[in-house]
Amino acid sequence: MEKKISLSGIKPTGTPHLGNYLGLIKPGLELAKSYQALYFIADYHGLTTVRDGKEFERMTYDVAAVWLALGMNPADVTFFRQSDVPELFELTWILSCFSPKGLLNRAHAYKASVDANLRAERDPDDGVNMGLFTYPVLMAADILLYGSHIVPVGEDQRQHIEITRDIAEAFNNNYGKILVIPEAFIQPSVATVPGIDGRKMSKSYDNVIPIFAPANQVRKRVMSVVTDSRLPEEPKNPDECNVFNIYRHFASPEEVQAMRQKYARGGFGYGEVKQELFEVLERTFGEARSQYDAVSKDRVYLEKMLLEGAERARSMGAPLMRKVRKAVGVRSNR
Ligand code: TRP
Repeated sequence: MEKKISLSGIKPTGTPHLGNYLGLIKPGLELAKSYQALYFIADYHGLTTVRDGKEFERMTYDVAAVWLALGMNPADVTFFRQSDVPELFELTWILSCFSPKGLLNRAHAYKASVDANLRAERDPDDGVNMGLFTYPVLMAADILLYGSHIVPVGEDQRQHIEITRDIAEAFNNNYGKILVIPEAFIQPSVATVPGIDGRKMSKSYDNVIPIFAPANQVRKRVMSVVTDSRLPEEPKNPDECNVFNIYRHFASPEEVQAMRQKYARGGFGYGEVKQELFEVLERTFGEARSQYDAVSKDRVYLEKMLLEGAERARSMGAPLMRKVRKAVGVRSNR
């Protein structure tokens, strides 16, 4: 039997961090063992916000290097750059014609911009580009082009998958079952990895711990994780502690258990558990970092991998595009 398809994208808009690792890269690589995996760098989605072309290109290679260093095998995973797949635009336009504007008005990123503008008594669409507004349609095309079954993403992307399903259903209602209706794959346990300020780890909050920054920088970030002001001798609550809530994802179950007991006993300062967190992170990523350092410099290799991935992705998307064109009655089949 053909394997089902797992697909996801990551925007090249910041250095990949522990939240990306737990929420996407780790589960994505795990899923690649039983699914046919397509993972891509969503550069066109990133372009809704990034304006520095050189830096953007660098970030694209950086994301590719991070996945490789973390163990992705390009023979198992079709890894590509979104902008290398021109068919995506054909499908995006066609899907736009099935996307109610009202549905997109409610999409969270657009709605957040409008709400902020209204609060500031500005024009509701101030600073909003059409890329931001139609972002969910491009994402629907990403997912639907390859007939994806599951889409591993963070909780913040749930609405986008719902929109994708709505658009696909509208299309299928008219033309028959052409598009696969995808499911979101969201792991509840990592929905809440805290950043150094205690809010959800996110590049938009500038509170991330990068996966592969030099060790001294990672240490600095870890040491600045916000904690409460309990004195060393006092018992502490691990579940309310940001340090523990990062630690528990990387330490072994025994270590996590021992750490819980340590919190309950008290008699240590937060500096000490931060150091333990740092050590666990070094253990997890230290070796991969040297691979990252080497591969991220090798643009020739990265480019070759991305182009090969795009070739495979395009050939996977081609049959669907033929069906879609035929169904809607545009452009002769090729
Ligand atoms: N919007 C996603 C994010 O911000 C990135 C993305 C683009 C994506 N296209 C996708 C994720 C398709 C999954 C599937 O994280």
